[in-house]
Amino acid sequence: MKRKILVTSALPYANGDIHLGHMIEHIQTDIWVRFQKMRGHECYYVCADDTHGTPVMLAAEKQGKTPEALITEMNARHQQDFAGFLTHYDNYYTTHSPENKKFSSDIFNRLQENNKIAKKTIKQLFDPEKEMFLPDRFVKGECPKCHAQDQYGDNCEVCGGTYSSSELINPYSTVSGATPIFKETEHFFFKLSECNEFLRDWVAGEDTLVDGSKKPHLQTQALNKMKEWLEGDLQDWDITRDAPYFGFEIPNAPGKYFYVWLDAPIGYMASFLNLCERIGIDFDDYFKVDSQTELHHFIGKDILYFHALFWPAVLKYSAYRQPTAVYAHGFLTVDGQKMSKSRGTFITAKSYLDEGLNPEWMRYYIAAKLNSKIEDIDLNLQDFIARVNSDLVGKYINIAARASGFIQKRFDGCILDVSSSKLVQDLQQESDEIAQKYENREYASVVKKVMALGDKVNAYVDQNKPWELAKIEGQTERLHEVCSELIHAFKLLTIYLAPILPKIAQEVTQFLNLDSLSWEDIHRPFENLKINAYQHMIHRVEAKQVDRLIERNKQSIQNNANSVEVKSSENDFKPECSFDDFTKVDMRVAKVLKCEKVEGSSKLLKFQLDLGNGIEKTIFSGIAASYKHPEELVGRMVIAVVNFAPRKMAKFGVSEGMILSAAGENQLFLLDVDSGAQAGMSVG
Ligand code: MSP
Ligand code: ZN
Repeated sequence: MKRKILVTSALPYANGDIHLGHMIEHIQTDIWVRFQKMRGHECYYVCADDTHGTPVMLAAEKQGKTPEALITEMNARHQQDFAGFLTHYDNYYTTHSPENKKFSSDIFNRLQENNKIAKKTIKQLFDPEKEMFLPDRFVKGECPKCHAQDQYGDNCEVCGGTYSSSELINPYSTVSGATPIFKETEHFFFKLSECNEFLRDWVAGEDTLVDGSKKPHLQTQALNKMKEWLEGDLQDWDITRDAPYFGFEIPNAPGKYFYVWLDAPIGYMASFLNLCERIGIDFDDYFKVDSQTELHHFIGKDILYFHALFWPAVLKYSAYRQPTAVYAHGFLTVDGQKMSKSRGTFITAKSYLDEGLNPEWMRYYIAAKLNSKIEDIDLNLQDFIARVNSDLVGKYINIAARASGFIQKRFDGCILDVSSSKLVQDLQQESDEIAQKYENREYASVVKKVMALGDKVNAYVDQNKPWELAKIEGQTERLHEVCSELIHAFKLLTIYLAPILPKIAQEVTQFLNLDSLSWEDIHRPFENLKINAYQHMIHRVEAKQVDRLIERNKQSIQNNANSVEVKSSENDFKPECSFDDFTKVDMRVAKVLKCEKVEGSSKLLKFQLDLGNGIEKTIFSGIAASYKHPEELVGRMVIAVVNFAPRKMAKFGVSEGMILSAAGENQLFLLDVDSGAQAGMSVG
C-alpha cells in the first residue's frame, strides 16, 4: 500500500549557524525520509529557515545590512551545512516568502471568522531609547527571587525561578542599556483558552494510515506533559508584535506584525506549496481536512508546546488537516555536558566539515544513539571514535575489503548466485524487523541489529578462511562461493544501513554494478553480476582530528581579552587557521574619543571610538589594571575588532567589539599604529 507522506524538521532560526544540535534533528528526519523513499512510498521532506523576529532584525542592524540580505546569506550557509551532512530536502525554503505571507494572512482571517481571535490591550516593557517593545530575552536585571545579577526577563538561570519581567529588579534593555518603561499596546490573541476540549482529544488521539497501521499523535512522554498543561487553563496566545519588527504585517492592522511563532509552522505549508507548484503535487490532497496523506513533524523537546498545542489548534480552526504525528527528540550533550562555547563543544556543522571529518561518521554515531523517546543524546568523543572505527570500518566495510580482492584476482569480478546460502538467507530474514524499527524511529536498535549481523558475517569469514582456501588446490570453487556469499551479505548490510549512510550506499551501488539499492533488492538474487574493483569507502577516525575539531570550536581566547587573565606564550600556538578564517575578523584603526573607568568594575574601561565616516562604537575593554589614567588614552589610535556580535558586559552596558592588546604576565599593552593611519582603515 503506497503511502503519501510529508515530513518536516523544525525550521532553524536564520540568526545563527547550524550546529550539531540541529544536525541530530535533521539526521534523524533524513534517515526516516530516506527509509520511506527506499520502501517505495511517496515521501517529501521540506524545511526552511525561520527568518522573522527581533533577533534577526537586530543582528542585521548590527551588521549594517537589511534583514533580507542577512537571511539570504544565512539561507545559503545553512543549505551548505546541511548538504555537507547529506541531509536531503525536497524543498528548503524561507519563511520570508510570498506563499507564507499569504497563508499567514489567510489563516489569521479564517481564525477571525471562526471567532478565535481576541483583541486586548496589554502593558509591555518598552525601550525608550531604542523606541521598541522588548521581548523578554532582551531585558535583564536582578532576579527577584535569589538576587542573582543579569538574569533574563522571564526566568533566572541561577535559581531556576520564573517570573514576569515586571518583577525584575533594576531592569535594563540589553539592546541599548536603557531602563525600560511600561507602555500600553493593543494585541491580537489566538483564543487557545477555547481549544482545551479539542486539544485534549487531539493529544491523546491516533491516526490510522492507509496500510491500516496506527500512529499516535504524540509520544507517551509528550502526551503526559501535554495532559499536565491541559489540566490547567490554557492562556490565550499573543500573536502580535509591534513595529519595529521583521515579519509580516497583520492585515488591516498597520504597525502590528505576526509574532514569528505564528508564521513559522505555517512555513511548513508554504515550503510545501512552493514544492507542489514546482513539481506538480496536489497541495490540497495533503492539507485538506480528512486528508488520507500523512504529515509528520520532527522537532526538539523545547518546542513541543508550539507543535503539540498551538499548531494543531491553529490548523483545526482554520480548517486544515492536523499533523499525523509530532516526534520530539532530546538535546545534544557533549561528553555528558551541555554544549559549551568555551570548552569547544558547541560544535558547528561547518567546523566539522571544514576540519575534514566525514559526515557519515556523525550520521552513524547519532543513529546509533537515537531512539523514539525524548531522551538527551550524548556525543561521547571517545566513544564516537571507538564506535565508528570498530563498527563502520572494522565490522562493516572490511567485509567488502576482505572478499573483493579474491573476486577480482581469481574470478574476474564475477559473483555467483548464492541466494540459497544460509548466511544470505539469515540476513534477508531480518528485513521486516529492521524495517519496523526504522518506521518506529528506533535507530539505535537498527544499528545494534545490523552490527550483530555484521558479526555473524565476520564469524563466517573466520570459519571459512578464504585466504587459506585460496592456497588449497581444488578449493577454487569453494573460495568463489564463500566470497560471493560475503559480497551478497555486504549488499544486504548496505541496504539496511543505506538510510543512515547514503553516500556509502551510493558507492556500494557502483561497486556492485547495480542501478540502485532499494528495500525490494533485499530479496533479489545476483544474476550474472560482475563487480568493480573495490576502493576503500570509509576511513578510520583519528583522535587528533577530533582534538582539532574541539580546538577550532573553542571560543577564541581573544574573546575573553576583556579580562586580564589572558596570557601569551611563545610555544603554544593555536592550531592552523586558514586565510579565509582570518579575513572574517574585521579589524579597524580607531581613534579614542572618550575613555573612562566603569563604576563597579575594577577591570573594565569604557571606550568611545571613532571609526571614521561618522561611525562610533562603544567598547568595554578589561585593561583598567594596566591603564590607571584612562583620560590619557583620549586621542590615541587603537586597533579594534568591529564585527563581533554585541556583547553584554554584566550590568554596565553592551560592548560592540574588542580592542586589541598584547598580553603580558600581569599587564596588557594596547596595540599601536604608525602615524598617518586614519580612523576606519582596515587592518589585515
Ligand atoms: N525556529 C524555531 C523552530 C520553528 S519550527 C516551526 C527554533 N529554531 S532553532 O534553530 O532554535 O532550533 C531548531 C531545532 O533544533 C529545534 O527543534 C530545536 O529543538 C533543535 N535544537 C536546537 N539546539 C539543540 C540541541 N542542542 N540539541 C538538540 N536539538 C536542538 O526553535
Ligand atoms: Zn534567581
